Amino acid sequence: MARHLITSALPYINGIKHLGNMVGSMLPADVYSRYLRQRGHDVLYICATDEHGTPAELAAKERGLPVAEFCAQAHDAQKAVYDGFALAFDYFGRSSSEQNVEITQHFARKLNENGFIEERAIRQVYSPADGRFLPDRYVEGTCPHCGYDKARGDQCENCTRVLDPTDLINPRSAISGSTDLEVRETKHLFLLQSKLQNEVEEWVAAHEGEWPHLSSSIARKWLTEGLHDRAITRDLDWGVPVPADTWPELAAEGKVFYVWFDAPIEYIAATKEWSDEDPSTRDWKSWWYDVDAEVRYTEFMAKDNVPFHTVMFPATELGVREPWKKVDYVKSFNWLTYYGGKFSTSQKRGVFTDQALEILPADYWRYFLIANAPESDDSSFTWEHFTATVNKDLADTLGNFVNRVLSFSKKRFGDEVPAGGEPGEAETRLGEQIAELLAEYESQLESLQFRKAAAALRALWSAGNSYLEEKAPWLEIKTDQPAAALTLRTAMNLIHLYAVVSEPFIPATAKVMREAFTLENDTATWTTPAEAKSLTTLTPGIPFTVPPVLFAKLTDEDLETYKERFGG
Ligand code: MF3
Ligand code: ZN
Repeated sequence: MARHLITSALPYINGIKHLGNMVGSMLPADVYSRYLRQRGHDVLYICATDEHGTPAELAAKERGLPVAEFCAQAHDAQKAVYDGFALAFDYFGRSSSEQNVEITQHFARKLNENGFIEERAIRQVYSPADGRFLPDRYVEGTCPHCGYDKARGDQCENCTRVLDPTDLINPRSAISGSTDLEVRETKHLFLLQSKLQNEVEEWVAAHEGEWPHLSSSIARKWLTEGLHDRAITRDLDWGVPVPADTWPELAAEGKVFYVWFDAPIEYIAATKEWSDEDPSTRDWKSWWYDVDAEVRYTEFMAKDNVPFHTVMFPATELGVREPWKKVDYVKSFNWLTYYGGKFSTSQKRGVFTDQALEILPADYWRYFLIANAPESDDSSFTWEHFTATVNKDLADTLGNFVNRVLSFSKKRFGDEVPAGGEPGEAETRLGEQIAELLAEYESQLESLQFRKAAAALRALWSAGNSYLEEKAPWLEIKTDQPAAALTLRTAMNLIHLYAVVSEPFIPATAKVMREAFTLENDTATWTTPAEAKSLTTLTPGIPFTVPPVLFAKLTDEDLETYKERFGG
């Protein structure tokens, strides 16, 4: 038994996420956590909402709510959707927690003591009309290079050139539109990442060999460009306050830490939130502090988050000079596109996670998304592909198999696993094939290859269908009742095995399948290939029921309705 710490990139608070976010961080982490738990490992799966920063403040303003209230509501709304997707977090925290304030401030003090923080004066755009400093991206104007009139102060979307807000012609506030802008001098804390370049390089070099190419190549690119010192505070109302004991002047001015400084620290703080709920049985430090050899830490994220997790956050952790656990394996994903284009909230393109659950239960989405995870490249969501996959894999290959076997057996042999017949050559062959496919499935899950794992799972389901077609119990029954009983009993054993090993992908359906059989002390504990081979867990006489249809077949009409509602 090993100890596995697992985190998903923290979803930002400002709105319900789309399916691309789901497949790129939370869902695969859940599948992996569930698998490891079933194998008997000690797993802690942590996530939280990322709540600080300007976008949260603006979203709150748009709703006419105080930002703290907005975040509390938005947190609950996201949590409800993740419950709907059956994401089995051990804890889903909030980066605005007091635990995160405490640990973020501690990190900042330590970095300061160790000479990695420096106070610097910088010049920033201030908008009297908005009563605030404007982050670069909230200054808009005309691009000096291409003349595009909606260029943002950090970058021109039209010609992609990187800009400084002072480069813009006719600058205005993107928040209020005010053109009455000033440049004011203000003091901020800078994290001297350049001093940590060598250490981070060494650390990355020691780990990247194991990481997927996407993660290591992005880390390399950032290291090659060099780590720059960066401002880690902002002039905002909403954030972790700069500690007054260390920086009284900045604290008095109301400075807070930059959202990207406190967000990854929330992985640790959320674990403390979890631990504080029941300190007698939970110990957050036993997952994070001085446990390098005991805990294996795996992070899940989309590729835009990789620099922060492979370079910036490790730099922070190294600079603290305390033995905080650093990531062992960084699993990253490309983009899921919607018909080849971007999912877009503003243009209402694509499918949001709450809408997805309004249409169909979570297992449909979980299976489709993992089977098509953008692992080695971007992958495209289309309704055509989605409905075809559901119909073929879930409704035909798995669902139909389960219902055919159980209803036929019930009709001919009654409510118990039928007795009769002796396993023969066909069953031996099937057992060997199942053991082999299961070993393949396990090995893909162990190496976090989700698409390949889904393919192996699908092959396991198919093997049952081939066996059934070959033995044809509906013909056997006419001439040889015990032979038909053997076939059906073997097929029921497959159903029970599928229930166990499909759990990480389709937990709700897996439970229905498992509970079709009245087995004493039945648990979802993993079945190994060696155990699976005999296909005799279910013995004659065990009562069973026929569950309702597991997966509905989607019609052409359904397809048209989805396309019309969501665009396609
Ligand atoms: N909220 C960020 C995003 O949506 C991810 C934060 S991950 C963390 O891109 F580690 F910083 F928390
Ligand atoms: Zn431009």
